[in-house]
Order: sequence, then C-alpha cells, then structure tokens
Amino acid sequence: MEITWTQDLTCGDPHIDNQHKEMIKRINAIHHAIEDKLTDDEIYKIVDFLNGYIKFHLDDEEKLMKKHAYPGMIYHRMEHKKLTESVREYRKNLDEKGISTAYLAQMQAFLINWFINHIKKTDTLLASFLESVKYREKFNKNGE
Ligand SMILES: [Fe+2]
Repeated sequence: MEITWTQDLTCGDPHIDNQHKEMIKRINAIHHAIEDKLTDDEIYKIVDFLNGYIKFHLDDEEKLMKKHAYPGMIYHRMEHKKLTESVREYRKNLDEKGISTAYLAQMQAFLINWFINHIKKTDTLLASFLESVKYREKFNKNGE
C-alpha cells in the first residue's frame, strides 16, 4: 500500500505539514522495501529510520503544544502515546517473529490509516490553534 500526498492531508501549519510529508515518504519506503525484496537487515534499517522520525515528529508537536499552552494537549498527547505503543509493539513482533511481507504490509497499512485520521482531525485542530496564536502575536506586535 502506498500513500500519495494530497491537498486534503494539509493540516494548515507549514512546519507540521513538511514533517508529515517526510513521514509519508518514509512510510512509503516500507512499501518499496517489500516490492524490491530487500534483505531483512535493510528492512530493519528502513523501519528504524521511520520510527526515529515518528518519535522526532511527535516530540516536536508536543513541544509546540506545551510552548503555547494548547488546551487540547492532553487528548492530543494521548493519541500520540497510543501510536508510540503500537509502533513499539510492531517493532517487538518483527524482532521476535522475524520479518514477513504480510506483517510489514499490515504494519504499514496501520500507520497509513492512523496518520490520515490523526492529521485530518487532531493535527488540523492544533494547526488552527497555532494559526490563532500567530494572529494574536501579530496583533499584539502591531499594537492597538
Ligand atoms: Fe499529532
């Protein structure tokens, strides 16, 4: 399964949108790894490369939420936490049971669905909040 970036995946914050684009690239890399029949070692590297970016991206969003005292932070972080747990579980199973095409495809489909839902609902709410923060900062700077 491959995911193509489309306009409806834009959450509205350019900084976050760019990170989502990078993440989608790395999720698609798993699809290509399956198709190209890469070795297990190469596949582990691709999975870890993606997982590292997921962690970086979630942390970065959480820093933004904290910095601006985002009111929806608790719920948003809860969704991130669930994803982190799933990513850890998938990785553990890959280690214990070995790599199989079916399991990789299942993991990849899970990630795609998770991100589409999370971007469209939860991240879009955060982006509109950040937009209002920017507007307020601009207004305060320009004065009465
Ligand atoms: Fe998020």
